[in-house]
Amino acid sequence: MASIPNEFIETLLDRIDIQEVVGARVQLKKAGKDYSGLCPFHSENTPSFTVSQQKQFYHCFGCGKNGSAIGFMMEYEGLDFIDAVKDLAQMAGMQVPTTAHAGHKPKTNLYAVTEKATRIFQQQLKTNPVVIEYIKNRGISGATCKTFQLGYALNEWDALLKRFDPNEHELLKRTGLSTQNDQQRTYDKFRNRLMFPIHDKRGRVIAFGGRAIEADQKPKYLNSPETDLFHKGNELYGLHLARKHSNESYVLVVEGYMDVIALHQQGVCNAVATLGTATSAQHISNLFKVWERIVFCFDGDAAGVQAAEKALNTALPLYLDHTIIDFLFLPQGEDPDSYVMQHGKEAFTQAVDAAMPLSEFLLQVISRNINTNSIDGKAQLNEKAKPYLNQLPKGAFKSMMAQKISQISGQALVANKPSKNSKSPQQEPTSAGDNPLRKLISLLLNVPKFCAGIPKELNLHKLSFKGVEIIDKIVEIQRINPQINAAAMLEHFRDSDYSPYLGHLMRIYDHLDESEKALEFKDIINYLNQLTSKVEIERLRNKQMQSGLDSAEKQTLVQLLRQKTNQ
Ligand code: UTP
Ligand code: MN
Repeated sequence: MASIPNEFIETLLDRIDIQEVVGARVQLKKAGKDYSGLCPFHSENTPSFTVSQQKQFYHCFGCGKNGSAIGFMMEYEGLDFIDAVKDLAQMAGMQVPTTAHAGHKPKTNLYAVTEKATRIFQQQLKTNPVVIEYIKNRGISGATCKTFQLGYALNEWDALLKRFDPNEHELLKRTGLSTQNDQQRTYDKFRNRLMFPIHDKRGRVIAFGGRAIEADQKPKYLNSPETDLFHKGNELYGLHLARKHSNESYVLVVEGYMDVIALHQQGVCNAVATLGTATSAQHISNLFKVWERIVFCFDGDAAGVQAAEKALNTALPLYLDHTIIDFLFLPQGEDPDSYVMQHGKEAFTQAVDAAMPLSEFLLQVISRNINTNSIDGKAQLNEKAKPYLNQLPKGAFKSMMAQKISQISGQALVANKPSKNSKSPQQEPTSAGDNPLRKLISLLLNVPKFCAGIPKELNLHKLSFKGVEIIDKIVEIQRINPQINAAAMLEHFRDSDYSPYLGHLMRIYDHLDESEKALEFKDIINYLNQLTSKVEIERLRNKQMQSGLDSAEKQTLVQLLRQKTNQ
């Protein structure tokens, strides 16, 4: 959980009241034991946004967004985790422990440097008619230039350096705006380039891209290196502007700075670009926090298809049933910039509407170079499909894809799929809905003190259900802080891959009050007890037949069988 101690987060979430935090920003009305209002994260006319004081948790039934007060501040105010905690701590009159910043040099000064450089570049652009002409020729208006804070870096070795006080030169180096050669000489990194400031999602400048002006100037684009402020794999160009269009049903992911700018110029403002890297899982999950649909837009050439395939592979494990990913392939030789500039917004958005669904692209990738009419081809298809399907999270989409592939190949995809009437608990549950651990996790998240009621001898590791490690973690956290509330429990999982699932699991028992939840908990524990002993009996019987049992094992088996008859 970042670098702030867990105990601090727990105390913070205990002291503040989410109803006050949200209520200061969203109009809330009391509705039963909770509060409700219009969701600030999607547009709606009837309230589906609820805030539970008891759980210290918010949830929108419309768009699915949910989380603690910290999560709300991050989402609503566009803050990163540490800043959200700081803001809330201030409200609660608490001091964020200074160890939180140990090893971190303060970034504040660095932002001041990047902001100042941005202004300098902007100023320099105003006095360079050649570059202004270049921008105009590309169809970019003065207003768009201003929105994106475009600028120009002079064709000199130290033009920028000279504008900073020598005692700021170290900072300048830390932003990547200046570098050092082998002779320890410091010089400007960007020279004679059209400058594109790169912003974080709050709109602070964290890095730059610089485009060559002369035809023979290499490379075409020069980008800031990774710095304390800038991590390519996390950031997306234009996100601070696109975020303002979170009410659009989708976000476009394109490849170039100029694509984002041209689209914006034509009125398509919900576009972001990766920064000369492949789309990362972090990118995708950040975008899914704001939009439910991602449309990847690639050039229509071989490189575009290759980039799309990479994005597909990264996206598969993150593809949940309520999310949508589509792929838009532009005609050969076009990029989003050229396409939208030539054909306009209407034509572009129509192309987006007709984009290829992930399922279709996946099928295309899997069946590429395979003749699915031949028997060999069908078998090949099945084999090729497996690794892709394995990457998909369990759910309706995965089942649908598996079904589709079995239809084409004429073979069942999962060889040892459990039959309908087989009740062996050893088998993987067919869908997340069958997994009893889901219910247990939900109950433990809702009412962490239930953890104390899990019998010591119940060994869930004997079952092959997913989620045991989550339960172990919840139990451990509650053991250390027996009074922890639901929201603080959830915060412990913020950085884990499970985080989105857990937010949803939180809701399963919303309709029950605490005493009903306690009964439910008892039922599930009973059921899991039976299940584990059944598995253990089965294991011991198998061993008995194969290699025999030692006396301790025999005793255990007898005991288990006796219990079973008593149940
Ligand atoms: P493109 O070459 O497609 O650039 O690279 P573009 O955006 O269409 O640029 P224009 O239209 O020629 O001005 C796409 C992206 O790849 C990264 C940049 O982020 C660029 O926007 N790139 C490209 C680099 O980092 N370095 C390069 O030398 C080229
Ligand atoms: Mn281009």
